[in-house]
Amino acid sequence: MLDKIKDLLAEIESLKAANAQEIEELRIKYLSKKGAVTALMNDFRSVPAEQKKEVGMRINELKTRAQEKINELKAAFETDDATSDDIDITRTAYPVQLGTRHPLTIVKNEIIDIFSRLGFSLAEGPEVEDDWHVFSSMNFADDHPARDMQDTFFVEAHPDVILRTHTSSVQSRVMEKQQPPIRVICPGRVYRNEAISARAHCFFHQLEGLYVDKDVSFTDLKQVLLLFAKEMFGNDTKIRLRPSYFPFTEPSAEMDISCNICGGKGCSFCKNTGWVEILGCGMVDPAVLELNGIDSSVYKGYAFGLGIERITNLKYSVKDLRMFSENDLRFLREFESAN
Ligand code: DAH
Repeated sequence: MLDKIKDLLAEIESLKAANAQEIEELRIKYLSKKGAVTALMNDFRSVPAEQKKEVGMRINELKTRAQEKINELKAAFETDDATSDDIDITRTAYPVQLGTRHPLTIVKNEIIDIFSRLGFSLAEGPEVEDDWHVFSSMNFADDHPARDMQDTFFVEAHPDVILRTHTSSVQSRVMEKQQPPIRVICPGRVYRNEAISARAHCFFHQLEGLYVDKDVSFTDLKQVLLLFAKEMFGNDTKIRLRPSYFPFTEPSAEMDISCNICGGKGCSFCKNTGWVEILGCGMVDPAVLELNGIDSSVYKGYAFGLGIERITNLKYSVKDLRMFSENDLRFLREFESAN
């Protein structure tokens, strides 16, 4: 009996299997009810009493070892996927839904692309700013209403630290480091202390443009903005400039484009006027050039600032500003084809 056990142990130690089915066959051969190890246990009854202790121990060892061996074979087989014939390489892959760019990013990139072709390069500035870059260097008088607590987010412990309310602050960031010629566009997020509704949000996105050089004229500005409008909204787009006021430009204007939703005929989006406002612009006030270290007797400049949400609303007829920050996948997936 002890010899039988020894032989069986040697046999089990040398077991090999090529796949899951062979392992199962081995398990049945040795460990099932009719298996070789089980048969030995049945023979145990006929072992003489004085050998029972020793034989019993050996049979138990054999059984444990047989189980371990089967488990080892299984483990080796499971980690070695490449040799597995359980993998069905013909099965269809799990469908993966590709992500899409955010509509504001799509539009921002399109605007950057248009101005890059005109020789503008990218500039950036911080969202957490100081009063100087957002207001003072941009020629805001000390009592200008835009400094009011209702518009601006202040950092409580540091009254000089604010969230920028417009990307015009990047004009100052660029001019303090660089002398003309300057041709930059500055896209970025801005913050205002406004109640959130379909038409207003406490954060949104702007793109600032600044051009400073010798002999820059209002005509240059108008021509560049006309080209931008046509590239962005189609060749038939018309523009009109209305006089306006900004502390950092003189003269200042607001630009409208012919409503691209009704083609200028009048609709609810353009409030039946046929025109929609898309940006503010003007000739850089000489005081701004001086405040930022540029000689205004030599250089002139123009600037413009547009809202990226506004352009996106117009291009894709998005009526509610909140859609841009709610991350509703049903909305975002509508822009798959625009990527
Ligand atoms: N900073 C202005 C705003 O947030 C937009 C603007 C108007 C920017 C005129 C300009 C500009 O550069 O020339 O409403």
